[in-house]
Amino acid sequence: MTLLRNCWYMAAWSDEVGPAPLARRLLNEPIVFFRDINGQVAAFPDRCPHRFAPLSMGQVVEGGIQCRYHGLRFDRTGRCVYSPYSDQPPARASLAPIPLVERDGFIWFWAGNVEAADPATVPDMAFLFQTPTTDLVRMHVTQRSSFLLGIDNLMDPSHVPSLHADSLAPPPDMFRHARYSVIREEGRVTSLWRFPDADGEFPDHQWLKATYSPPGTVLTSAGLDMLSGAALPPGILFYNLHVLTPETATSAHYFSADIYDRAKVDPDFASQRAALLLDQVFGEEDDPILAGIEARMAGEDFFALNPALLPIDGGAVEARRLHARLSEAESRTARPAGFDTLNT
Ligand code: FES
Ligand SMILES: [Fe+2]
Repeated sequence: MTLLRNCWYMAAWSDEVGPAPLARRLLNEPIVFFRDINGQVAAFPDRCPHRFAPLSMGQVVEGGIQCRYHGLRFDRTGRCVYSPYSDQPPARASLAPIPLVERDGFIWFWAGNVEAADPATVPDMAFLFQTPTTDLVRMHVTQRSSFLLGIDNLMDPSHVPSLHADSLAPPPDMFRHARYSVIREEGRVTSLWRFPDADGEFPDHQWLKATYSPPGTVLTSAGLDMLSGAALPPGILFYNLHVLTPETATSAHYFSADIYDRAKVDPDFASQRAALLLDQVFGEEDDPILAGIEARMAGEDFFALNPALLPIDGGAVEARRLHARLSEAESRTARPAGFDTLNT
């Protein structure tokens, strides 16, 4: 798997980065995030330039982050601003800040050439907040399989009646008479399912959609309640957002959000929803099967294993092809520096 480098990946939800340093492995790099006392987020490789202690073991102090080992202190720009041993902080002990953008509750980082990082290209999530009372059930968990297996899974809702029979419990044959199409657009791919009613008509509200935007975003939306087959009440669950960021070659950070209108739901909606989706749907169903797939694929390329593809796989396959095309195009230009690669 060759990863895209010159793009913004999601690093964390804003509320995951608080007053204590946060250690997170992203694209196989240990990174430390912290929020300084002015509320600004910063990130560095999680390794002190002095004798390589994890900075995430340190603490946030006035002026920046302080290493636990000898107490060197670094500001948001990576400059050493304090040494317990000298009035003159050592200029050589400096850190390269990782480009970050915090917007709408998302923290994004740039994984490629620092000079190419353009905040104007950060994914715009403002559209999610459709009303003043729109809110997100924000979730983050580690997926025990590669991020592309997660994209496959999200582009393929047809696995829901089988894998999620005990949790989401949709009609077992809901995909049997559905119409399926794959929509290819510039820089994205959509799986679109339309479902017949009892008369065999395809009403406007009976659809399910999953759109992949590289590197790791899948936006799913539905016009029907999968449990009852009815049209959704207006204002409830406009979308489900999923963002995957590689952790290692065989694991990924899975960020997901259910978008809802807090004025129209019970106060415990968010906690109930998170428990259903994270503990049961993901924790007991998706994650174990994806980890099993990862183990059985044993590092082989998906297409090289000659999968017995079905028509339902169209969206997932097109998403993989789009990712592969973009990463091959990037590989033909100079490889961005700054991160170890996960390329195999
Ligand atoms: S290793 Fe960080 S100050 Fe010495
Ligand atoms: Fe699933």
